[in-house]
Amino acid sequence: MASTTTVVSDLRGAGRHPAVGAMSCAAASCHGGLGQPGSKGSEFTTWALLDPHRQAYAVLLNERSVQMAKLLGLSEPAHRSKVCLTCHVGTAESPDLFEASPHDRLGVSCEACHGPASQWLAEHTTGSWQSLDRTNPSVREWKAEAGLRDLTTTAKTAGLCVRCHVGEAGREVNHDLIAAGHPRLNFEFSSYMRLYPKHWNAPQSAEQASTNDARQWMVGQMVSARQSLDLLDHRLSRKTGPSPELSEFDCYACHHDLHTAQTGPGLGWRQSEGFSGKNPGGLSWGTWHAALLPIVAPSAGQPDEELTTALRALEESLEDPAASAETRQAALQRARAVISQRLDEIETMPVSADELAARIAWLTGPSADSIRDWDRATQTVLALRSLHQSLGAMDTRLRSPAADATIRELIESLRFETRDEVLFDSPRQFSPVDFRSGLKRLAPNLQPVPVSAPVGAADAPGILPR
Ligand code: HEC
Ligand code: HEC
Ligand code: HEC
Ligand code: HEC
Repeated sequence: MASTTTVVSDLRGAGRHPAVGAMSCAAASCHGGLGQPGSKGSEFTTWALLDPHRQAYAVLLNERSVQMAKLLGLSEPAHRSKVCLTCHVGTAESPDLFEASPHDRLGVSCEACHGPASQWLAEHTTGSWQSLDRTNPSVREWKAEAGLRDLTTTAKTAGLCVRCHVGEAGREVNHDLIAAGHPRLNFEFSSYMRLYPKHWNAPQSAEQASTNDARQWMVGQMVSARQSLDLLDHRLSRKTGPSPELSEFDCYACHHDLHTAQTGPGLGWRQSEGFSGKNPGGLSWGTWHAALLPIVAPSAGQPDEELTTALRALEESLEDPAASAETRQAALQRARAVISQRLDEIETMPVSADELAARIAWLTGPSADSIRDWDRATQTVLALRSLHQSLGAMDTRLRSPAADATIRELIESLRFETRDEVLFDSPRQFSPVDFRSGLKRLAPNLQPVPVSAPVGAADAPGILPR
C-alpha cells in the first residue's frame, strides 16, 4: 500500500483544470496538506485517499462498463461516452470538462461539486478570500455568480448530490442502463452522508450537530423526491426514449419468482394478501422516493394528508394505462408543489426529541402495516437509523444499544442473498409478511425510554424526559 505522501505527490498537479494553467487545488499550501482527514487544508488529500468519487472515472474502464457500452450499442467506449461521463466525471455547468485530460482521469473531483473554478480562482488563491465572511449574503451572491456553488444549507448540499444520485434531464440511469448492468440508484441522503468521508468540518451549533441526522433525513427525503419528480416530468414529456420508463416502477413487482407455480397449492404472499385494491397484475409505481414522505413532516401528529392525497393521485395516474398525458402532468405538478412547500418549512423547523419519537412510533406502528415491498422496508430502516442517531445525540439518556442492535438486525434481513458465491441482485427471498412481524416484534426496542424513568413510568404516554 502506498504511503500518504507518495499518493499525494503522484496526484499533485493532476487536479488541475486546463483553464487554470499551472494552478491546482492539490498544492500542499492550498488543499493538499497532510493533516487529519477532514481538517482544513487537507481537502484534496482526504478526497484522493478516501473519497468514493475519486474512482468514478476508473470504473468506466472495468469489465462491467465495457460490457454495458457494448450492450447499449454506444458509439464510443464508456470512458469516452457522454452517457457515462456526465455523472462519472462531469459537471452539467461545464460539459467541456469531459474533453480535458488529465482532468477526467480524476473522476468526480473538486469542480464537479464546487463548480468550475475559472471565474473565481484568481481571488480564491489570495489571502483576502480567507477573510470573506461566508455568512454575508452579498459575499455568497458574488461567489455564486462567479460559479462557486453555494453548499451552505442542507437542501443545497442534497440538491447537489441528487443530480447524479437520482438523475436529471441529460443524466439518467434508466431501465436500459440497468438491464445492461448498471447498479440501480437507491439514494438516501442521510445514509450517503454517513458513508461519505467528509473533507470539511463546518462549524455547527450544538443544536445543529444533534439534529443533523434527523434533519438530513427529512430534507433529503423531500429533495430526492422532488428531483425524482423532475426526472419523471422529463421522461413523460420527451418524444423519444423508452415509454413507460420501467425504472419508475417497482422492480420486484416484475422481477420476482412465481411462487404459486413453485410451491404447489399454497399462494404466494401477493395473492394471499391481495393487491392493495389494485388490479391483480397491474403496474406498481416504485415506492423508493415517495413511501415515507407523509411522515417526514406530520401535522398535529398525523401523516400529512395533503401530501398523501397528491401522491396517491399521481400514483393512480401512472398506474392507469388509459390516463391522459394532461391528467398525469397535473397530478405531477400538484405533488411537486406540495413537496416544495414542505421543504421550505422543514429547513427551519425546530426538531424536538418528542417529535422524533412520534415519527419512530409511526414508522414502527401504522406505517409498518403498509410495508409490501423491499423499497419501503429499506427506507423505513434507514429512517429509523437516522432518527435514532439524532435522539442519542440530543440526550445521551436516549442512546440505546438495544435499538442499535435491532436496527443492525433489520438491515441484515434486507440484504440480498448470496449463494455459492453468486450475489443475487434482487431481494428474491424478501417476504413483507416476515419483515413486518420482525419489525413489530422488535418495535419495543426502538421506542426511546429514559434510563432514569421511575418504575412503571414506561407504560405511561409521553415517555420522554422533559
Ligand atoms: C445519472 C448518473 C449516472 C449515469 C448517467 C451513469 N452512472 Fe454509473 N453510477 C452512478 C452512481 C451514482 C453510481 C454509484 C451507485 C451507488 O453506489 O449508489 C454509479 C455506479 C456505477 C458502477 C459501479 C461502480 C462500482 O464501484 O461498483 C459502474 C460500473 C458504472 N456506474 C458504470 C457506468 C457506465 C458504463 C455508464 C454509462 C453507460 C454510467 N455508469 C452512467 C451514476 C451514473
Ligand atoms: C461529492 C461532492 C464534493 C467533492 C467531489 C468535493 N467537495 Fe468539497 N465540499 C462538498 C460539500 C458538500 C462541502 C460542505 C459544504 C458546507 O457544509 O459548507 C464541501 C466543503 C469543502 C470545503 C470547506 C468549505 C467551507 O467554506 O468551509 C473545502 C475547502 C472544500 N470542500 C474543498 C474541496 C476540494 C479541494 C475538493 C477536491 C479535492 C473538493 N472539495 C471536492 C462537496 C464536495
Ligand atoms: C457529478 C456526479 C456526482 C455528484 C454531484 C455526487 N456523486 Fe456521489 N457518486 C457519483 C458516482 C458516479 C459514484 C460511483 C463511484 C464508483 O463507485 O466508482 C458515486 C458514489 C458515491 C458514494 C459511494 C457509494 C457506494 O455504494 O459505496 C457515496 C457515499 C456518495 N457518492 C455520496 C455522495 C454525496 C453525499 C454527494 C453530495 C454531497 C454526492 N455523492 C455527489 C457521482 C456523484
Ligand atoms: C414492468 C416490468 C418491469 C419493471 C417494473 C422493471 N423491469 Fe427490469 N426487465 C423487464 C423486462 C421485460 C426485461 C427484459 C427481460 C428479458 O429480456 O428477458 C427486464 C430486464 C432487466 C434486467 C436485465 C437482466 C435480466 O436478467 O433480465 C435487469 C438487471 C433489470 N431488468 C432490473 C430492473 C430493476 C433494477 C428495476 C427497477 C428499477 C426493473 N428492472 C424494473 C421488466 C421490468
